[in-house]
Amino acid sequence: MSNLSKKRYTITSALPYANGPLHIGHLAGAYIPGDIFVRFLRLNNKDVVYVCGSDEHGAAITIRAKKEGVTPREVIDKYNKQIKESFENFGISFDIYHRTSEPIHHELSQEFFLNLYEKGEFIEKFSEQYYDEEFHQFLADRYITGTCPQCQSEGAYGDQCEKCGTSLSPTDLINPKSTLSGKTPILKETKHWYLPLDKYQPWLEEWLIDGKKDVLKSNVFGQCSSWLKSGLQPRSMTRDLDWGVDVPLKEAEGKKLYVWLDAPIGYISATKQWAIDNGKNWEDYWKKQANSEDESTLIHFIGKDNIVFHCIIFPAILHAHGEYILPDNVPANEFLNLEGDKLSTSRNHAVWLHEYLEEFPGKQDELRYVLTSILPETSDSEFTWKDFQARVNNELVAILGNFVNRVMVLSHKYFDGKVLMGSAFNATDNAVFGELAKYPALIEKSISDYRFREALVHFMNAARLGNKYLADEEPWKVIKTDEERVKTVLNVATQIVANLAILAQPFLPKSSTKLFEMLNFPQQDWQNAGQPDLISTNTQLSEFQMLFEKITDEQVDSQLQKLADSKAANAAANSVIAPARPNITFDDFMKLDIRVGTILEAEKVAKTKKLLKLKIDTGIDQRTVVSGIAEFFAPEDIVGKQVSILVNLEPREIKGIQSQGMILMAEDADGRLDFVNPTSSIKQGSTVR
Ligand code: MF3
Ligand code: ZN
Repeated sequence: MSNLSKKRYTITSALPYANGPLHIGHLAGAYIPGDIFVRFLRLNNKDVVYVCGSDEHGAAITIRAKKEGVTPREVIDKYNKQIKESFENFGISFDIYHRTSEPIHHELSQEFFLNLYEKGEFIEKFSEQYYDEEFHQFLADRYITGTCPQCQSEGAYGDQCEKCGTSLSPTDLINPKSTLSGKTPILKETKHWYLPLDKYQPWLEEWLIDGKKDVLKSNVFGQCSSWLKSGLQPRSMTRDLDWGVDVPLKEAEGKKLYVWLDAPIGYISATKQWAIDNGKNWEDYWKKQANSEDESTLIHFIGKDNIVFHCIIFPAILHAHGEYILPDNVPANEFLNLEGDKLSTSRNHAVWLHEYLEEFPGKQDELRYVLTSILPETSDSEFTWKDFQARVNNELVAILGNFVNRVMVLSHKYFDGKVLMGSAFNATDNAVFGELAKYPALIEKSISDYRFREALVHFMNAARLGNKYLADEEPWKVIKTDEERVKTVLNVATQIVANLAILAQPFLPKSSTKLFEMLNFPQQDWQNAGQPDLISTNTQLSEFQMLFEKITDEQVDSQLQKLADSKAANAAANSVIAPARPNITFDDFMKLDIRVGTILEAEKVAKTKKLLKLKIDTGIDQRTVVSGIAEFFAPEDIVGKQVSILVNLEPREIKGIQSQGMILMAEDADGRLDFVNPTSSIKQGSTVR
């Protein structure tokens, strides 16, 4: 059973920051893959705990609080509740959804810090750190942004560039700016406790690079080796912040633990709480055991921006502590995009889970299915509503739904819903059973390699097998001549449905439950999949339940409209009035010779989108001007209009045309243009000043 051969598993999905709702990018990164994997393990009777919870500390929370004008406590309470409910409603099957604000978590985090402190694992260092004088605050992590020294992109944070993934210190940033005041910060001295990652570099190279070359996904391995290549630096594990877990040292009063120290410990404290609630021993799931056979297998499901923390920093901390197991694998996904653009919370360019659940009630499996089909497993991928509609309608409805529908309807119509057996299985039937028997192992192999898209394709192929069988056997025709054969065909088809019910469990939990109910068949473990005799003869089937409905064009259009609306709202909110330029003298201004002219002719400049060629009577002469207004004005609408024209601008050649002057236009922050012309006609050649 490859890497699924262990008996105990500790599975985590990244703790989402409780600073905003969940969107489909989160689901595709860390939650759907984790949930499929865990459901699969449970079906194989593994001893598994699946933990998650809200990440409630750090600048992500306090900055959000400031934006909403509320306390950090209010922020975490609000979003923790919302996130937890969305996960529950969507059906991510955590054993516990915990919170890092819980006392049990604060205690464990402090215990970890003290354990390392007492072993002398930290370097204590006074250093100059950026400080915002206006807000009287040190600037770490998300409180400071600047240009990434690695990839030169703007908006890198003080602890990480999200563009290229590089982990950073505030002092690495080029042109740093406080996100509080927007100003350039000053440097001020402060003391912090650093984890000497450089010291662990040789160990990390051995454990990760040599030891996990063959098991890590290539995108994960690539990121890790490039960090190790560039050399690890000591990293501060404390912060000058007023929100977070207190550093448990007298001399560190007022300081907090770095959020990326306490957050992954949140996996452990969540397990502790779950163990208390369920009469388990949490150490079984986290600590090394005398006999390595008994050790749990730890797997972190995350998105790619979390790789450094789960592959380098957290393992170094666990290793430094010494009593803990290390991750077996970190199958991180790349990013999911939406309709041609990056998902963005701040720009509201997202499909929010809580909104989806309201707008598509009961359609959890549809979203699971589509997201699983497009998981960004090896590279970024894209969600579009058209594709969502196509996959639901052409795959879920047309293949899986259609097959089950026909089996149920025909069984009820011909045999009152009884599963019967007529003439003996023929060669076709046996061939179908032979095919069917291959799917459990195929799916298992894909899941164990973290290739969930491929696993889902196998599952759908099993459904296709059923669909094709019925289409080929045509029981609706055969019924007229050979009822005994139809009994057998529907028997075979029903066995396929029963197999699909088992195989669907990791991917489509709601639909799988419906299938079991329709078949009057108790829920089955994975080991029963692949068999030809799951439903015994004379079983009475239950009522048919609709599995999937078509997604309509109206539904797609309304979702696209919603995205367009938020784009427009966002553009409006972002359109800033340009500040005034530096003063000029009266003499400077008098150099400009601006006249009132009349547009005599206008035509589009060939092969351009924006340009019009205008002939203008300036009162002095008639001249040609090329102007970039074609997106806003049609040539025929502006002939005869008066315009202000700068007549002493150096002539310029534009697209092979001599442009002699410039007409004056008003431009708003979104780039829209309009005329600034006289309101009553004034004599051509009049001066403007
Ligand atoms: N809150 C982090 C994020 O959203 C993830 C934390 S994962 C954990 O990026 F390991 F720290 F828990
Ligand atoms: Zn970068």
